[in-house]
Amino acid sequence: MTNLDPRLGMPGTGVVITGGASGIGLAAARALAAVGRPVALWDINEAGARAEAEAIAARYGVKASGLAVDLGNPQAISPAAQATRAALGSIGGFVHCAGTAPTTGIDGVTPDVFDAGMALHVRAIILLAQAFREDMRGNPGSAIVATASINAWFGNAGIPVYTAAKGAVISLVRSMADELAGDGIRINTVSPGMIDTAIMDPATKDYMHGVYDRRILLGRFGEPEEVGRMIRFLMSNEASYITASEFLVDGGMRHSQRS
Ligand SMILES: NC(=O)c1ccc[n+]([C@@H]2O[C@H](COP(=O)([O-])OP(=O)(O)OC[C@H]3O[C@@H](n4cnc5c(N)ncnc54)[C@H](O)[C@@H]3O)[C@@H](O)[C@H]2O)c1
Repeated sequence: MTNLDPRLGMPGTGVVITGGASGIGLAAARALAAVGRPVALWDINEAGARAEAEAIAARYGVKASGLAVDLGNPQAISPAAQATRAALGSIGGFVHCAGTAPTTGIDGVTPDVFDAGMALHVRAIILLAQAFREDMRGNPGSAIVATASINAWFGNAGIPVYTAAKGAVISLVRSMADELAGDGIRINTVSPGMIDTAIMDPATKDYMHGVYDRRILLGRFGEPEEVGRMIRFLMSNEASYITASEFLVDGGMRHSQRS
């Protein structure tokens, strides 16, 4: 009989959150810690990752560690995985939130810019899955969440590499879901809409509100916690029959016909 208790059934295993020092990653880490899961915050911002991990451990009473990891560097993943195993004791999944969204247009895309965007947003997911596959296979309820974007579906001239990378995230997750299902590991994508985080250039924030507040059906930008709660759900046993799917957390923006 399926358990319908109004509680978020959660594995007790640790979760790695990339981009955990800020925004959506930090909100996801806090949401998971709040229900007792050990968390490791991996971020290129070492000071931020360490400080936020300390704050999480103090507030929620779980194991939490903050590590300096450049997710664009394939060599960085294995040592960080080893250190995290030792720090958390067990790994039952990861959440990939590390990201940047440089505005380049077409002419600003050098081969290095293109490769860096794809490496950070897309390649890292498969490298993380390789690094943690054995850990996840051994832990029932293991799951992965990758962050895409509603921009995977929009034509925005400023951010071609970001747009391509986010589209690739959604496709990659579908493919990985097929193989990982054999190991009892679920993998899904969350596509946030306009979320109030540091990724948005403060210089254009007012302009963005002017353009998008009306178009978003709920009439406002989202808070990172509103995405963090969706990520927590997908990492929980409540989501036991969900894999290979994309979830929009966008206040209705993608389906809006408003201009
Ligand atoms: N905020 C939005 O409106 C929005 C919308 C759609 C998708 N997203 C996606 O959500 C994810 C999280 O973004 P956010 O809004 O929380 O932004 P954010 O800037 O608050 O957080 C991103 C984090 O990633 C880290 N990071 C950047 N490059 C890294 C690297 N090479 N290695 C390790 N860490 C790195 C940053 O230091 C930062 O802590 C990103 O993938 C972003 O593309 C955000």
